[in-house]
Amino acid sequence: MQKVILASSNPNKLREFREILSPLGWEVVSQKEAGIDVDPEETGTTFEENSAIKARAVYNIAHSAVIADDSGLSVDALGGEPGVYSARYGGTRDDKAHNAIVLEKLKNVPDEARTARFVAAITYISDNGEEKQFVGTFEGRIGYEERGKNGFGYDPIFMVGEISSAEMSPEEKNAVSHRGKALRALAEYLGNL
Ligand code: IMP
Repeated sequence: MQKVILASSNPNKLREFREILSPLGWEVVSQKEAGIDVDPEETGTTFEENSAIKARAVYNIAHSAVIADDSGLSVDALGGEPGVYSARYGGTRDDKAHNAIVLEKLKNVPDEARTARFVAAITYISDNGEEKQFVGTFEGRIGYEERGKNGFGYDPIFMVGEISSAEMSPEEKNAVSHRGKALRALAEYLGNL
């Protein structure tokens, strides 16, 4: 079994990566399990850059295969915000506060201009230092109120047709989500190595 370190301490990300990569013969260990204590500043201006920053920080210590992901919401009417600031939008890490800010900023924006997408960028660095990136997107619109109890983050205000992504089951969301798409592209690549 080949081993890969996930450059994250987020248990949800670890579970998702394990579910998809274990059947392919990859053992995913968390950064913590690998004994690596590093939390680089995400100074990039794109998801791809920040994903690479996280992966390289761990690779430079471990010198073995690493994956990292960076993700967020991009709202067209806000010029791409919250973007790379999604997790700390408005200077807070509180999801409800994030959603309230976006809804308030879009209060006079009509239906057709409320388009948005989630983006996930995954960076894989092999044992010998070769880098590969996979990006997945998930298109939708910003709603008018929070809806649904599933998911996390901006899901309650992210509408896909008539329902929010917080009203989708985890299986439904994974089948179409940004992270699901990027992870499947990574899995296909690793499966073909
Ligand atoms: P990261 O952990 O630095 O990549 O931050 C990602 C942030 O983007 C999260 O804290 C959420 O606010 C937001 N985000 C990313 N993916 C999703 C999703 O699938 N649903 C809702 N919010 C998401």
